[in-house]
Amino acid sequence: MPSTSQILRTYLCVAAVLCAVCTFIVVYKCSCEDFESDLRSRREFAQPNGPPGFTPPQPTTFLFIAIMSAPNETTTRQVIRDTWLKLTAKGKDVVRHVFPIGVKDLSDELLHSLADEQEKHSDLALIENLQESYDQLARKTLQVMEYAYQSYKFSYLLKVDSDSFVRVGAVVKSLKDISHPRLYWGFLDGRAKPIRKGKWKEVDWMLCDRYLPYQLGGGYVLSYELVRFLSTNARLLKLYKNEDVSVGAWLAGLDIKYLHDPRFDTEWMSRGCNNQYIITHKQSNDQLRELYQNLVEKKVLCTKEFRVRPSYVYDWSEIPSNCCKRDNSSTIP
Ligand SMILES: *[C@@H]1O[C@H](CO)[C@@H](O)[C@H](O)[C@H]1NC(C)=O
Ligand SMILES: *[C@@H]1O[C@H](CO)[C@@H](O)[C@H](O)[C@H]1NC(C)=O
Repeated sequence: MPSTSQILRTYLCVAAVLCAVCTFIVVYKCSCEDFESDLRSRREFAQPNGPPGFTPPQPTTFLFIAIMSAPNETTTRQVIRDTWLKLTAKGKDVVRHVFPIGVKDLSDELLHSLADEQEKHSDLALIENLQESYDQLARKTLQVMEYAYQSYKFSYLLKVDSDSFVRVGAVVKSLKDISHPRLYWGFLDGRAKPIRKGKWKEVDWMLCDRYLPYQLGGGYVLSYELVRFLSTNARLLKLYKNEDVSVGAWLAGLDIKYLHDPRFDTEWMSRGCNNQYIITHKQSNDQLRELYQNLVEKKVLCTKEFRVRPSYVYDWSEIPSNCCKRDNSSTIP
């Protein structure tokens, strides 16, 4: 016969085992729930458009063009409407453009003038919570991505400056050939050193002693998937002073298709005039008109080709600081 104390010990043992099992189940369940709620909040985070199931009406287009201009650049916007925007006969299901403009704290005079312009052309994207300022260009770029992603369905987004001339038809045609879901296309620089002085100094850049590869700002293309990534993660992205550098840094960790194309004359100065260019930057309003006339009347961009600065093809076999050697003797446009 087992003694009372033996029975008691057995009971205590069984109770201890049961207790351990219960504790394990409770802890396991809790951590599972934590994980699930974490996953849920991440999913919600990935849906900036509102609650799940809410889909605002989104017009569809192949190429969405965001033309960056200052609020007072009414004349330039009209020149763009009258010139390169007319270069495609395709409908809005293929090409669609907007001029995004931040309207926060704008003067009444500018607001009135923008309202007139909008009434005539309906192609301004007036962004309420965006303040226009030279040192907020990264923020503007990001808000334009969010605006595009929330308002349209598109395959590619072209961001261009107001002093760029774009051969829209050629861009569309090339995109159909390239056809990549994670495309980042333009004129790439991998060896630029951070600016440490003056108006454009970059105080927060500490990732490296160079910038990460980025497409120069006169114009570049991002696929929908990349715009979606940037918009849905906007609140976590660090804004550097230079907006183009920022885009390069934001995308640097992703599995993207960097495409360097010397037909993008999109550096801080134009390399000249070459009939292979599909985007050419740093053009005055008169030059925009002239390039358009050349194309319409003579079917070429340049009446006379010339070069003031040699070009390069990005060398992926080199380290980034040696990526971009200009070659005077080559025929790279
Ligand atoms: C627009 O305003 C900026 C300053 O805010 C000025 O430097 C520039 O000359 C103006 N441009 C035009 C076209 O009026
Ligand atoms: C390259 O060409 C430019 C303009 O044509 C000229 O000024 C420069 O000296 C040339 N550089 C070299 C290394 O040949």
